[in-house]
Amino acid sequence: MSAAEKPPFEGASTLEGSPPLLHVAIVMDGNGRWAKQRGLPRSLGHRAGVEALKRTVSAAPKLGIGWLTVFGFSTENWSRPAAEVAELMALPKRYFESDIARLEREGVRVRVIGRRAGLSSELVRLVDDAQARTDHNRLFNLNIAFNYGGQADITDAARRFAEEVAAGRRAPQDLDEALFGGFLATAGSPPPDVIVRPSGEQRLSNFLLWEAAYAEFVFQDVLWPDYGEDHLKAALAEFATRDRRYGAVVADDVLAAG
Ligand code: FPP
Repeated sequence: MSAAEKPPFEGASTLEGSPPLLHVAIVMDGNGRWAKQRGLPRSLGHRAGVEALKRTVSAAPKLGIGWLTVFGFSTENWSRPAAEVAELMALPKRYFESDIARLEREGVRVRVIGRRAGLSSELVRLVDDAQARTDHNRLFNLNIAFNYGGQADITDAARRFAEEVAAGRRAPQDLDEALFGGFLATAGSPPPDVIVRPSGEQRLSNFLLWEAAYAEFVFQDVLWPDYGEDHLKAALAEFATRDRRYGAVVADDVLAAG
């Protein structure tokens, strides 16, 4: 399937005749190392990470990106020291307090994907409010994965489908990939075109496991708090060199094979 044949997804508007908007997903990694290099507490690395997120969100729409999904807190991050978990839990508040009015005004639709269980009622209220305020927006989509894990999300989706079957609303034979995708937290967003991981690490860390099926991976040697427009441009330039075949062969090779 070519990029132009991608199925329609709710969420971002594009001009007639312009290339389809991209979905970029980012593992925002390296806050701790950034802080350590400067002799600072890790908490300040995470706060600097919020500033990098702001820079990236404002650069993305200008670069042909319609969806940005960022990994803010994983289901595995609960195993960090309590003080660091508390700091990480405070980041959405820090971000929304400073930016939600601007996001709302600038046409950004914010969704927070991940388990609500475990989050404080104040944080759930904040997240619900950010989503409600921006739900009508269609220019750009920001998905923040928070208390998110790919395996947890697939498990939750399977459980929701099983509940539908148990309630008699679905039959097991109804299930196919498209239907299952609709039960995931990312339902309504296209799959990511490219998954970016700064900080030099080269792994997925339980991010978008189902959705990553045909994503390209770009690894960058920069710590997340230093990330900005130029790094995003470099990631897209690298992505543009990739030949995406979705398991098929290109037309020239079909002819050559005779
Ligand atoms: C991983 O780096 C990063 C995190 C666990 C947190 C990422 C969060 C942000 C960048 C801010 C998010 C903002 C919102 C609104 C949720 P690390 O701390 O594991 O870095 P290290 O590998 O260098 O130790």
